[in-house]
Amino acid sequence: MIDTSVNYLGLELKSPFIAASSGYTADLEKIVALARSGAGAIVLKSLFEEQISNEIGFLESVGADSPESLDFLKRYVTDYSVGNYVKLIKDAKKESGIPVIASINCFSLSSWTDFAKEIEKAGADALELNIYSLPMNRESNSTEIESGYWNIVNQVTKELKIPVAVKISDNFTNIGNFVNGLQGHGAKGAVLFNRFFTPDISLKSMKITPANPFSSKTEYLKELRWTAILSSQLRQFDLSASTGVYDPSSGIKLLLAGAKTVQLCSVLYKQGPFVVADFNNELKEFMKSKGFNKVSDFCGMLNYGNIADPASFERVQFLKTAEQYSKEKK
Ligand SMILES: Cc1cc2nc3c(=O)[nH]c(=O)nc-3n(C[C@H](O)[C@H](O)[C@H](O)COP(=O)(O)O)c2cc1C
Repeated sequence: MIDTSVNYLGLELKSPFIAASSGYTADLEKIVALARSGAGAIVLKSLFEEQISNEIGFLESVGADSPESLDFLKRYVTDYSVGNYVKLIKDAKKESGIPVIASINCFSLSSWTDFAKEIEKAGADALELNIYSLPMNRESNSTEIESGYWNIVNQVTKELKIPVAVKISDNFTNIGNFVNGLQGHGAKGAVLFNRFFTPDISLKSMKITPANPFSSKTEYLKELRWTAILSSQLRQFDLSASTGVYDPSSGIKLLLAGAKTVQLCSVLYKQGPFVVADFNNELKEFMKSKGFNKVSDFCGMLNYGNIADPASFERVQFLKTAEQYSKEKK
């Protein structure tokens, strides 16, 4: 009997394939469809403090005429937005029947903890901290920035009982050291890696425009390398791989590299929620063909610590390829 269940952040999931945080997972109908097609869990769209702040700023610019009314406005808009998110958590849990992971992105330390506590009270099974802002101040050094991230993780995990994972960018000088710090400050796992909004330039309008938000099919390779390296080094710490997973085979490769779960986003936008069933079916086929009964039989089997030539994950220069290329030309 093939068993595709996995344990991620202490949660029992029926499948390692989970829906990543995005606008797609802010919609209850889509959440239910994802659960029906076999998603292991749903990561809800992030609750963004910045968005709440922008709304307050707009209302302030058109209305608030005294400090009292501004305070009222701030409280009202914040409570309203957090209230809507709490409702989404409760509805998603009730209607989907699968674990629901909430997600937040804030800029003030008090909001990270305040939002997190509301989310736990609402019944979320886990929390993803979507931490990243583009460093624009050339005076702040990497140590200050990374300690700031660790401090957020420390404060939030001190307040919560539910497990916390941190969704990170790959823009760190030493990812392993940064992830060590996340674990040391109470995180139970990390999501490798987030993919951010990027601006582009339109030559037609000569203006800045948003770039295509979706990843491409080979982008999972960066995640594959770091999942393979970190999963061999970290104990009692779960990795979830995100970015560039368009087909079951790349998802299965990330499991072999050591990911406990694999997050799907662009593929859901492009192919719809029912693609998750294909991922689960192909996973079962793969397990059957290789004689694996459980996902834990092969999770991490090809990570950095388990292969004969770990240097293949360390290699960053194209030396061999260039050598081969010049031999071929002779
Ligand atoms: C339209 C869109 C909205 C997203 N919103 C969020 C978000 O609210 N929070 C978050 O952590 N990631 C967000 N993401 C990032 C995705 O969760 C995911 O990490 C990224 O798209 C890479 O996965 P993919 O290659 O499967 O798309 C968003 C991505 C897209 C395309």
